[in-house]
Amino acid sequence: MTSEYDRLEEYIMGETENKHTETVVDHAMNPRNVGNIQDADGFASVTGPCGDTMEIWLRIRQDRIQEATFWTDGCGTTIAAGSMTTELARDKTAADALRISQQEVLDALGGLPEENRHCALLTVNTLKEAVKDYLKNKREPWKRVYRKH
Ligand code: FES
Repeated sequence: MTSEYDRLEEYIMGETENKHTETVVDHAMNPRNVGNIQDADGFASVTGPCGDTMEIWLRIRQDRIQEATFWTDGCGTTIAAGSMTTELARDKTAADALRISQQEVLDALGGLPEENRHCALLTVNTLKEAVKDYLKNKREPWKRVYRKH
């Protein structure tokens, strides 16, 4: 009997085989930083033009990202990009995290095929929105009481 995990693995491997670097396959198969953060300091959910959604949570202490996590309903490359983006964000100041670019994520992954480059843009845009959410919460801390995430 094929388990859900086996089906996911077949899907990701079928999608990534021969088209992606070892780093991409590794981050797609063993994504880092998956899941949410309770009472996060910053959160964003962004749906890209392809219809996939990326969500990022941040724990920030003394203006430095201590922990960044993600969730997505997107493809294997989106998972890899979310994993790499959250890895790159850790230990950065809020200002430096805002400067992480699509190209930086692509370089860290060893590149993505043209048709998947937008996956890295979605993750970077989501990170920027999560940092902006943190900055907004810092200015208006009382609003956190009303947040769902
Ligand atoms: Fe939509 Fe990857 S295919 S973000």
